[in-house]
Amino acid sequence: MMGADHLKFSELYGSEPELEAGAPGRVNLLGEHTDYNDGYVLPTAIPQRTQVEMARSQDEWCRFYSANFDELVRYRAGGAIAHGFTGYVAGCLEVLREAGCAIAPVNLLIRSEVPIGAGLSSSAALEVAVLRGLRGLFQLDIDDLAIALLAQQAEIRFAGVRCGIMDQMAASFGDVLHMLFLDTRTLERRLLPLPEHAELIVLDSGVPRRLAASAYNQRRQECEEAARRLGVMALRDIGDLAITESLPEPLNRRARHVFSENQRVLLAVSGVSAEEFGELMNASHASLRDDYEVSVPALDLLVELLQKQPAVYGARLTGAGFGGACVALAKAGQAAAVKATALAAYRAQGHDGRVLV
Ligand code: GLA
Repeated sequence: MMGADHLKFSELYGSEPELEAGAPGRVNLLGEHTDYNDGYVLPTAIPQRTQVEMARSQDEWCRFYSANFDELVRYRAGGAIAHGFTGYVAGCLEVLREAGCAIAPVNLLIRSEVPIGAGLSSSAALEVAVLRGLRGLFQLDIDDLAIALLAQQAEIRFAGVRCGIMDQMAASFGDVLHMLFLDTRTLERRLLPLPEHAELIVLDSGVPRRLAASAYNQRRQECEEAARRLGVMALRDIGDLAITESLPEPLNRRARHVFSENQRVLLAVSGVSAEEFGELMNASHASLRDDYEVSVPALDLLVELLQKQPAVYGARLTGAGFGGACVALAKAGQAAAVKATALAAYRAQGHDGRVLV
């Protein structure tokens, strides 16, 4: 057999694909753990994408081949959903069926450039790419917003994470030249230019996101409990920071993070300089570390190593936390040097990081 990266659709399935679809991963610049609180988020697409080639199957079986894992899995509608990437793909087929869409079995070849498990939403990229492909293949009457919502359902139901809508909206509407300002309650959105004279950096801390699903769901429950006690529909509706003080520990700090993080997103889109944007990122990290408690020591270290460089406007952990990646905004033209310096110092302290963007 040829190397996994070179396996062609026709070699796997005996015919050419009928179409190809893709979607990007995302990095969130500001607005972390706000989406399931009906708040604001500010992600941007990363250059890495997930591509899916597909064609109708000649029998009742679907076949999903992942070039990244060099793994071929068979799946039949309504059948048991296996582990890993298969769950996301089968999830997309199931949610479409449940939505009343007429789809037939398909063969798929999936290639992902989006780093898997690093907090850059490889799963959302996969879901949106698969749904786009199925829309094309079966001429489904669903728009990009429906695709994002269906992808979120697939993730919640079949991957067991009660995620918000940010990642799937970023994969469906994001591009690399803009940041997507999204109100997750109304789903109103605007593509805004990225901060000027600046370059984005994304580094992997090398810390696997263990316990991420359970800790994530626990944070979500804490937020729901805080909102219930405050008598608001969601923490987005807190009008005044002072009312969070009436909550017991740790709900007071969870609510404070959501309130302050929403404020930071609104400030960032009001037209700030790269310096001010960077300060908001630094403040976001402190809040995620101290109030929301989703950082880990290695991430704090990597963020600090970035923040202390003069060419860096700001840095923070990005995504759900508990490991994974951090994002920084650096002066244009200086990103390469910043990455090298931060990673060398990180390695010198016994950690193994790598460049993602
Ligand atoms: C994960 C979820 C998102 C969002 C972030 C935290 O990426 O999928 O919905 O909640 O965590 O901001």
